[in-house]
Amino acid sequence: MTASFRPRFAPPALAALLLAAAALPASADALKTLHGQAPLVIAHRGASGYLPEHTLAGYELAIRMGADYIEPDLQLSKDGHLVAMHDTTLNRTTDVASKLGARNGGYKVSDYTLAEIKQLTVKPTGTAKTSYPGFTPSSANPLRIPTFDEVLALAKSQGALTGRTIGIYPEAKIAAPAMEDKILASLQAFGYGRSSDKVFIQSFSLDTLKSLRAKQDALGMSIQEVFLGNTASASFSDIAKWVNGIGPSITAGGANAVNQAYIAAAHAAGLLVHGYTFAQANPEPAAAQYGKYLGWGMDGVFSNYTDLAYNARAELLAAVPEPESYALMLGGLAVVGLVARRRRKTMA
Ligand code: G3P
Ligand code: CA
Repeated sequence: MTASFRPRFAPPALAALLLAAAALPASADALKTLHGQAPLVIAHRGASGYLPEHTLAGYELAIRMGADYIEPDLQLSKDGHLVAMHDTTLNRTTDVASKLGARNGGYKVSDYTLAEIKQLTVKPTGTAKTSYPGFTPSSANPLRIPTFDEVLALAKSQGALTGRTIGIYPEAKIAAPAMEDKILASLQAFGYGRSSDKVFIQSFSLDTLKSLRAKQDALGMSIQEVFLGNTASASFSDIAKWVNGIGPSITAGGANAVNQAYIAAAHAAGLLVHGYTFAQANPEPAAAQYGKYLGWGMDGVFSNYTDLAYNARAELLAAVPEPESYALMLGGLAVVGLVARRRRKTMA
C-alpha cells in the first residue's frame, strides 16, 4: 500500500462518524411514518393520567414531560367563550354540583357563563391525582377550567421557557359555526395560520372540518385538519380531499381496525395517522403497545401518559434515526472527508 492511500491521521470526529455510520440501520429500517418524520407525542387532555384533565397544570406537566402537542377539547360557555372541556356537561370532572347546582335539570356547559365556570375546580378522574411529585404548576389557578386562549398563552409561554415550539391540537367538540369561528379567531389572534404552524384542528364531524377549511381559505389560513373516528364511511382518498390526517381509535374493530395495512393505506392517500387513546399506565405493556403502532408507521399518538409515549418515541428514534439525522451524519462525513483530503495534500 502506498502512503497516498493510507490516511495519515484519523481525526476523532471522523472516527466517531464512521463508527456511527456503521451503526446505522439499513434503509429498510427507515421510519414508516408518512414523510419519514419522527412520530408526535400528543398529550391527550394534558397529562391526564397524572393530573386532572384539561387543566393548565395537566398541560404544563405534559409539556415538561416532552409533549410535542397539547390537546384541548373545546366547549362553548353560555356567553360564548371557548373553554377546555371534554364533556358537554360539567358534573363528571368538576365540583359544579356542590358549588353552583344544576341548571335546566342538568349541568350543560352551555348553561353556565364563563364567570361561573371559572369558580369551579376540576377533579381528578381515573388514575389522575391533584398533584404530581416534584412538579409545581406555574399558573395561579392550575386546576380551574381554562379558556382556549389561556391554553394558547400557556403553549407560548412554555415554549419560550423550554426553547421548544409547543404544538396545539384543539378539538371542536360541538358542530356549530360559532365554535368554528371562535377557534379560528383565537388561533389567528395568537399568530397561527400557516400549514407549517404546529397546529392541528380536529373533529369527529367531517362537515365541521369542511366548513373550517372553507373559512380558513376565506381568511387566508391553512392550518392542518384531522378527521377523527369512523373512516369506514368514506374512502381514504375522499377524506384526503378535505383533511391532512385521520385520528382513528386504536380500540376500533372491523373495517376501522388500526393495523399496518390500515396505516399504509392512509399513507398511500397522503393522510397522517394520529391514533387515540394510548391509556396504558403500566410502563411495560405501554412500551409494547407504542412499539407496535409506531413500528407500523403511526404518525402520532394521543397519550394520557406523556412520559411513556415520549420514552417509546425515543426508543424508536434510537433504533431508527430520522432522515434529517441520517442526512446530517452523511453531510458530516463528507465535510470531514474533504478536510482530510486537503490536509493530506498540504502535508504531501
Ligand atoms: O381527539 C382524539 C381523542 O381525544 C378523541 O377522543 O373522546 O378523548 O375526545 P376524546
Ligand atoms: Ca379529544
